Amino acid sequence: MTERINESLGRVVFSEEQIRQRVREIAADINALYAGKSLVVICVLKGAAMFFTDLVRHLTVRPELDFVRVASYGNDTSATRAISFTKDIELSLQGKHVLIVEDIVDTGRSMEFLLRQLEARRAKSVRLCALVDNHERREVEVNVDFPGFRISDGFVVGYGLDYAERYRELPEIRLLDWQDSNKE
Ligand code: IMP
Ligand code: MG
Repeated sequence: MTERINESLGRVVFSEEQIRQRVREIAADINALYAGKSLVVICVLKGAAMFFTDLVRHLTVRPELDFVRVASYGNDTSATRAISFTKDIELSLQGKHVLIVEDIVDTGRSMEFLLRQLEARRAKSVRLCALVDNHERREVEVNVDFPGFRISDGFVVGYGLDYAERYRELPEIRLLDWQDSNKE
């Protein structure tokens, strides 16, 4: 018999109000660091979409906004995973400061790829803001300059984060629970 694993929504780890508060704090840090500088803020689709649109509404630095999408193929946890752009940014980064906005940094492989690619475009600086930093699962060294929340384990969904394209619409962040559907 093939084993089927079903998922269900678990407990709230970060509430709507906690997220709202944290987004304001991060925006204040970004405003302070980039005051008077030319900044491009890049949303990593699709997971960071909600976080990005909430965050930029609190920015006072008059940034330019752009969007990127990266996809990875192959074993998710292996070093052989190939990462590529499925949608590149459209703005020039030359001589500008760049801030990448991502949903979650896990192994770090996607962001290592993106940071390296964008650094090669002669930006003045490239920094990373991530709503969730799952630092315990890191496989390559990637520093999150503006972390929203830190977690050390578990799979989280909601507020943009998905499991197989579902749960992105939730206004809060929840753990995903797993159960073996054969156990009845
Ligand atoms: P990384 O390359 O392993 O750092 O992770 C890249 C991507 O995997 C993230 O941008 C997410 O799209 C996805 N991911 C990793 N952990 C989670 C999670 O707990 N919930 C939802 N998506 C995740
Ligand atoms: Mg992602």
